[in-house]
Amino acid sequence: METLKQQLNSLIAASLSKVTGIADSNANVITASKPEFGDYQANGIMACAKQLKVNPRELAGKVVAELELAEHRLVARYEIAGPGFINIHLDAGSLLKRANAILAKPSQLVPKTELPQSIVVDYSSPNLAKEMHVGHLRGTIIGDSLVRVLGRLGHNIVRQNHVGDWGTQFGMLIAHMQEITTEHSDLPQQLADLEEFYKAAKQHFDADEQFAVTARNSVVKLQGGDPDYLAIWERFIEESLRHCEAVYAKLNVTLTRDDLDAESRYNSELGNIVNELSEQGLLTESAGALCVFLPEFVGKDDEPLPVIIQKSDGGYLYSTTDLAAIKFRSSQLKADRSLYVVDARQSLHFQQVFAVARAAGLASDQLSLEHIAYGTMMGKDGRPFKTRSGDAAKLVELLDESVRRAFALVSDKSPDLDETLRQEIAEKVGIAAVKYADLSKNRTSDYVFDWSSMLSFEGNTAPYLMYAYARIKSILRKQPGTPVNLHIACTTEPEERELLVKVLQLPEIVSAVAKDCYPNQLCNYLYELAGSFMRFYEACPILKSEQRLKDSRLALSLLTAEALQQGLYLLGIDTLEQM
Ligand code: ARG
Repeated sequence: METLKQQLNSLIAASLSKVTGIADSNANVITASKPEFGDYQANGIMACAKQLKVNPRELAGKVVAELELAEHRLVARYEIAGPGFINIHLDAGSLLKRANAILAKPSQLVPKTELPQSIVVDYSSPNLAKEMHVGHLRGTIIGDSLVRVLGRLGHNIVRQNHVGDWGTQFGMLIAHMQEITTEHSDLPQQLADLEEFYKAAKQHFDADEQFAVTARNSVVKLQGGDPDYLAIWERFIEESLRHCEAVYAKLNVTLTRDDLDAESRYNSELGNIVNELSEQGLLTESAGALCVFLPEFVGKDDEPLPVIIQKSDGGYLYSTTDLAAIKFRSSQLKADRSLYVVDARQSLHFQQVFAVARAAGLASDQLSLEHIAYGTMMGKDGRPFKTRSGDAAKLVELLDESVRRAFALVSDKSPDLDETLRQEIAEKVGIAAVKYADLSKNRTSDYVFDWSSMLSFEGNTAPYLMYAYARIKSILRKQPGTPVNLHIACTTEPEERELLVKVLQLPEIVSAVAKDCYPNQLCNYLYELAGSFMRFYEACPILKSEQRLKDSRLALSLLTAEALQQGLYLLGIDTLEQM
């Protein structure tokens, strides 16, 4: 089933083409900005009129006349407005028909795309030398929401967790591990807190020149493939991955071991990348290093900016690995899109890597490379969020704190629920609050992390939406033996109609998120949907109405609950039947 917007776009574009003779004209249908303007408005007439140098209002008049001839039941009436917009009022009967078809088969609420693509989503991707900290929150949950949205539309998704497991820090960590293992046997205990372990190794490295030399040799041994060094490194990586997986489980994030795309995977490919670039004549030697200079990248004073591919000591860089990964995603995974959900501070890195990959033909022309950039999570002091001691806060601890706070909140709101149930609710609400607060912000901006606003039952928050869902479910429970034959029969009150149209718009929003990768659009929609339901609930008695009206309104409530649940699921948030 096409979305309402898609249907209107094709309908109006056809008439527009017929009237103007312009083959594929764009009707540019958008959701109406005000209820007075109807349900949707077509803005594409003006552009055509301009192209043909005709009066836009007159053209709009001809298009409407043409539309009125065409046989269709979707639209009740058209209205020409302003300089040449067409306001569209949908037909209530066709809305009901659509809604009832979905009620009969709720999976139709968000229909699958007719053009499924292969889409790689590179997200989370922490550096394994340390534990995941709050800086990894955004990429992990934005990426996971995009994966859910794209997957729901029927695209073929390949998750890639491009963890950092191969840098110079691992030499230091391995050397430190070796020392501990020879001196005493409490390695597992020491590794229980990776943050402390890293700090101890670093202190040792800074203070002891002899150790620093050993550490540097260890990287060379590791990267050269020495089996003893590889074995101890694997032990560390295994431990670090377990830490990540504990965080993923808490966050209800869909990444698994199978999604790993570690930097080390590309180690044996890096030499080939250098050769390919060299064959293409793209490499220049600069101070002993092999670099690519592209005309579009210039630094201060118009100095050309290099992309370093291989250092003078033979070492490779982050960019080299990313080039190898692009080649893999293009030629092996045959991706149509490759999304990189990574901090905005890596923008230049991705611009450069994408440009080099294109220049060298490592990415096929059909592959769209997209950096899905996100801003920084700030503390109340306006600086990147830190613990009191000034360290980057561990993600696990932040999530645990949120659950503790949610428990207090739930206990306050529903003191009568038994403690185990309150604890279960708190676990869902606490995690959802952190995720939703992040997802509801425009991803490209920085935002201030604030416990009190995210854990509030008022405003655009997870608790508010989860509560709205639970409340609808409790209304439905009050209707013993909910009729199986649920059917929405009328849109008597304006609030009823408004809610119905809103519910049917979920698939349009999901498509928009799939295209532009801004999950906050879905959050805003769900918040508006919950608001529409509250207005409907105030204006339209449900349980006290006569049977036909009551059944219809119960059915509309059920459909709303369905949209809230599916929408929240796409954000990675599970609903609760009771709160
Ligand atoms: N591990 C990197 C970091 O912590 C992020 C990797 C992102 N993905 C990529 N293909 N570069 O900064």
